Amino acid sequence: MERDEDLLRAYFSPSRDDIALEDIDLGRIPSHVSIIMDGNGRWAQARGLDRSKGHVAGVDSLRETVTTSVRLGLDALSVYAFSTENWKRPQREVELLMHLFATTLVKELPLFHQENVRLRFLGDLTALPKKTFDVFQQGLDETADHTGMTFALAVNYGSRAEMTRACRTLAERASAGTLDPADIDEAMVSSQLYTAGMPDPELLIRTSGELRLSNYLLWQLAYTEFYVTDMYWPDFDRWEFLRAIRSFQGRDRRFGGVINR
Ligand code: FPP
Repeated sequence: MERDEDLLRAYFSPSRDDIALEDIDLGRIPSHVSIIMDGNGRWAQARGLDRSKGHVAGVDSLRETVTTSVRLGLDALSVYAFSTENWKRPQREVELLMHLFATTLVKELPLFHQENVRLRFLGDLTALPKKTFDVFQQGLDETADHTGMTFALAVNYGSRAEMTRACRTLAERASAGTLDPADIDEAMVSSQLYTAGMPDPELLIRTSGELRLSNYLLWQLAYTEFYVTDMYWPDFDRWEFLRAIRSFQGRDRRFGGVINR
């Protein structure tokens, strides 16, 4: 994706003691970054606040992260906002999150228009409250013509459910006689996932220090580099994003092969 380098330099100015824009190679920015946003609740509890305040603060981090991604010229940013397991949280918290998703999306639509961001969703949206569903649909419709970065929100998303759904679709076609099982290959499986048509993430960032995937993009993350930060999500900012990219650029990516030296 194109980027405006003057705007980018201004955005990362003045630099921090330990990190500057010059520390990364702009020719090797990952095209798709995915983020497991974790630690909103602990951020709030550490301040003696209700967990809901952590989610509200998390929205500010997400807005900054979308802007940073556009400035850096990413093709795609995806974030894990609500998992298929998150329905087990107290009803009040689930309701608050659904409300927050809807209100935030409406509020941020002008930003998506301004930055030419195209929205998409990963997950089964049919289980969402009607208001949230309708607003998501509005977001999809209003940004469908945008040609800039893709911003994918994973909501009611679970990787095992996603793969099960893909298996079922292909099995149905096979039993209807329209698909020869011998023709099923990796590309066909990928085309049945919510991420169909998107490149796999090159970098996965997880906040709040947990070292697990939590049923997120299990297929798509096969060769992805991980960056785990102890920061809680509401503390995540453009500088930590830059540190993650610096770390990513320091890795040898071999994809199972060897490096020719
Ligand atoms: C993880 O913190 C965060 C979530 C489950 C929700 C993510 C939601 C936001 C960042 C709010 C804005 C999102 C959108 C799409 C508008 P946690 O509650 O798991 O924190 P904990 O692990 O400390 O309990």
